[in-house]
Amino acid sequence: MKITVCASKIYTITIGSGILDQAGSMIREAVGGQTAAIVTDDNVAPLYGEILAASLRQNGYRVVQYVFPHGERSKNTETFVSLLQFLAEEKLTRTDVVAALGGGVVGDLAGFAAASYMRGIRFVQIPTTLLAAVDSSVGGKTAVNLAAGKNLVGAFYQPDAVLLDVSLLSTLKPEVFRDGCAEIIKYGMIGDSAFFQSLETPIAAQLEKAIARCVEIKRDIVAEDEYEQGARKLLNFGHTVGHAIERLDGYKTSHGHAVAAGMAVVTRAAFRMGLCSESCLRALIETLGRYQLPLGTAYRADELARACLSDKKRDGNALTMVFPLQIGRCMLKKVPVDDLVGVIRLGLEDAV
Ligand SMILES: NC(=O)c1ccc[n+]([C@@H]2O[C@H](COP(=O)([O-])OP(=O)(O)OC[C@H]3O[C@@H](n4cnc5c(N)ncnc54)[C@H](O)[C@@H]3O)[C@@H](O)[C@H]2O)c1
Repeated sequence: MKITVCASKIYTITIGSGILDQAGSMIREAVGGQTAAIVTDDNVAPLYGEILAASLRQNGYRVVQYVFPHGERSKNTETFVSLLQFLAEEKLTRTDVVAALGGGVVGDLAGFAAASYMRGIRFVQIPTTLLAAVDSSVGGKTAVNLAAGKNLVGAFYQPDAVLLDVSLLSTLKPEVFRDGCAEIIKYGMIGDSAFFQSLETPIAAQLEKAIARCVEIKRDIVAEDEYEQGARKLLNFGHTVGHAIERLDGYKTSHGHAVAAGMAVVTRAAFRMGLCSESCLRALIETLGRYQLPLGTAYRADELARACLSDKKRDGNALTMVFPLQIGRCMLKKVPVDDLVGVIRLGLEDAV
């Protein structure tokens, strides 16, 4: 199955099972070039690095590989600079290609390096987590974290192609698979109530279909608002509080789990503010529960609010947050910084 994204770059997302060994020919066709730099982490490299490298070599590429320690803590400026130095030492030119093979951490880091090296080199995403498949590999957001906050330095840089082999997801740990389920639930909440209902059938039992639907929703949002001036902000549902949780615990809580907690908090607040119905809140909580995702956080409202202030969504003295109105429909609302603690408090489980 192929889905085309029409943004500042037009590119194709190829979705299938067992297609990694065709990556070389797909990349050759999409971008050409002489050298392919595979960027991956130390979990993914031994599983899939050689299959990709062999396929690239068969299609005439010189292959080099940059492997870094897995996990969010590697998504920093040190790894970023070290990757740029690697690309320079390997003498990649603008017509060569960076292939991100991994989850969202690999994709965000490799994408930002591809955007920056020589002011932009060819770039292909090969997501290997469910979260990367449905979200981070599509749409061109790339970034690394600073000590001050998450994704604070980065670029909008669309890939030249995305190759999405669902069979690679079979080796994910269950909790990493669930991270992706959180983002899938997010798509249902922001854009498609029928799709949300369909999640009563386990995602694992309808994997390719569910991934394709999320990619379609993201494609449409990115086509409308590539640079996040409006509609794209809806994709941040659950993320303001989610990022705050990640930051407060030094990235021990994974992104998907933090986003799940963030969605629960903001929906509870929305219900208590009269924005959505109790049945909307109940449906979200039941769905998160079905996928064994968190329904809240132990952090206090004041701690969360303070951590939210370094969020990119802050605009002067207000923060744009996403609140659900009903399943499948959310709204953007500016929350003045002074009101933030109160709003978050409404979203905590023990709020009255
Ligand atoms: N750019 C965007 O639009 C966007 C959107 C959503 C999230 N993100 C970012 O994505 C990141 C989270 O991504 P993630 O959840 O994929 O985390 P991740 O990249 O850290 O991967 C999670 C874990 O799974 C392992 N792994 C990856 N693929 C595997 C496989 N096939 N088999 C076995 N293990 C595998 C990794 O080594 C890692 O330990 C965060 O940094 C978040 O900010 C970006």
